[in-house]
Amino acid sequence: MYLALARKYRPQNFLEVIGQDAIIKTLHNAIQNDRIHHAYLFCGVRGIGKTSLARIMAKSINCQNGPTITPCQECACCKEITAGNSLDVIEIDGASNNLVDDVRELREQVKFLPTASKYKIIIIDEVHMLSKAAFNALLKTLEEPPAHVIFIFATTEAHKIPVTILSRCQKYDFRKISGPVLFNHLKDISAKENIKIEDGALQLIAQCATGSVRDAVSLLDQAFGIHHDQLTEAKVRELLGLADRVIVQEVFKSIVTQDLSESLKLLEETDQRGLDLKLFAETLLRQFRNLILVKSTGGAPVDLSPAEVGFLNELKNTPDVSLLLTQYQILLATIRELALSEYQKTILEIAFVKLHQAQNMMALTDLVSLVKNKGQNVRNADQPVRAQGTVGQSDRPVDLTDSKSPIDWYQLVRWITKEKPPLGGLLKDVIPVTVSDHEIKIAVAPDSQSRGLLIERGPAIQDLIEKNLGRKINFLVTDLKDEKKKPSA
Ligand SMILES: Nc1ncnc2c1ncn2[C@@H]1O[C@H](COP(=O)(O)OP(=O)(O)O)[C@@H](O)[C@H]1O
Ligand SMILES: [Mg+2]
Ligand SMILES: [Zn+2]
Repeated sequence: MYLALARKYRPQNFLEVIGQDAIIKTLHNAIQNDRIHHAYLFCGVRGIGKTSLARIMAKSINCQNGPTITPCQECACCKEITAGNSLDVIEIDGASNNLVDDVRELREQVKFLPTASKYKIIIIDEVHMLSKAAFNALLKTLEEPPAHVIFIFATTEAHKIPVTILSRCQKYDFRKISGPVLFNHLKDISAKENIKIEDGALQLIAQCATGSVRDAVSLLDQAFGIHHDQLTEAKVRELLGLADRVIVQEVFKSIVTQDLSESLKLLEETDQRGLDLKLFAETLLRQFRNLILVKSTGGAPVDLSPAEVGFLNELKNTPDVSLLLTQYQILLATIRELALSEYQKTILEIAFVKLHQAQNMMALTDLVSLVKNKGQNVRNADQPVRAQGTVGQSDRPVDLTDSKSPIDWYQLVRWITKEKPPLGGLLKDVIPVTVSDHEIKIAVAPDSQSRGLLIERGPAIQDLIEKNLGRKINFLVTDLKDEKKKPSA
């Protein structure tokens, strides 16, 4: 009979449990000092060892050579617990036994002494699923527990457990398992099972499992079930529906080396291949995270494969961390947008423009604050309300937003973004040079990658603005450089 790997590799003793060292240490202390509590609560997400440890704990307590942290696995008690047919270890699934009657029956059962072992151990899984009445019935036993009874509760949702129960339990918060620990575990199982799989593929599975051992092992099981031959990283990536790492790396490289047309070309290719663009963007986001960590720590994050580290090292001399952080934020916002919209490719295209523009925008932001500060210095009582400023050494003013106009530029951009997200996206980072009742003029850096798009989509933007205002208005796109050159007003 085929036994699912996750079941086959259920840990049978403390040593086989991965990633829960702190909890195991505390449990060991309790067993060794004979200070076993009468009620334990194991909390945490699915597949990280709660049920497994509950059973191991039961074995440790009831082993005929125990209590011991190394149950013999040979005595009748150990064997029965492993086989799941010990009369003294009662396992209840809270999800299917939430009736008061079941808990009442349980209360009857705990009155009897254990048949063959020291304790009656009651394991209630998914205990938060019990009804309120069932909890109340349970509480009666918990308040005055017979000396021969130990409860071990497990739950994925500790907050749903009444305080009256919580306060009578020793609570253990199980941790998600880190990528490298999962990787080693998978590698171990693959070797034992004679599964030929590339490290990169194991790394991917470990990442996708997001901390759950059971998910990681099941994914490995699935992958092996589909491709019995050599499991390559590419095959597993495809199986998991992930974007090809190579293409994501190429896109990432094109972004950090400021090659927008290459980025757009690769995006087109990715889209043509029918890959999930949100996943693609998420994988790209990870590249930013990786490079940011590499550049700010000087070392590589532990969850990267040697191939990935090599790739990042090639990019070490590219943009500084503050720009990467800005780009990370832009991409993160884009991923949220992608989840809500069906225009995924358009959104990503504009996001790429923004990513390329980010460098210019950072310089521009500095420039604008300089302009604003200087503007305040040179303004005096004789000057009109319209703010004026100078840039750098040249004494040429730049008109900033007309403070008299009731038009709120940023509110307008928000509205446009709601109506036509791609157009709004284009406007997010431009500088409003003039916003008056009859004219709106925006500026972009002359080398800005979105300049062409802005000019091309200008009429569409104007239409939208006019729709919002309910009247005609002049709409102009200019270069910031030209604004600076203008003669003084
Ligand atoms: N910490 C762990 N160490 C080793 N294997 C684990 C661990 N946690 C889960 N597993 C694997 O996942 C399966 C289910 O684990 P289980 O203990 O039932 O998780 P939980 O009760 O937290 O949902 C086990 O059979 C085992 O294969
Ligand atoms: Mg469980
Ligand atoms: Zn034993």
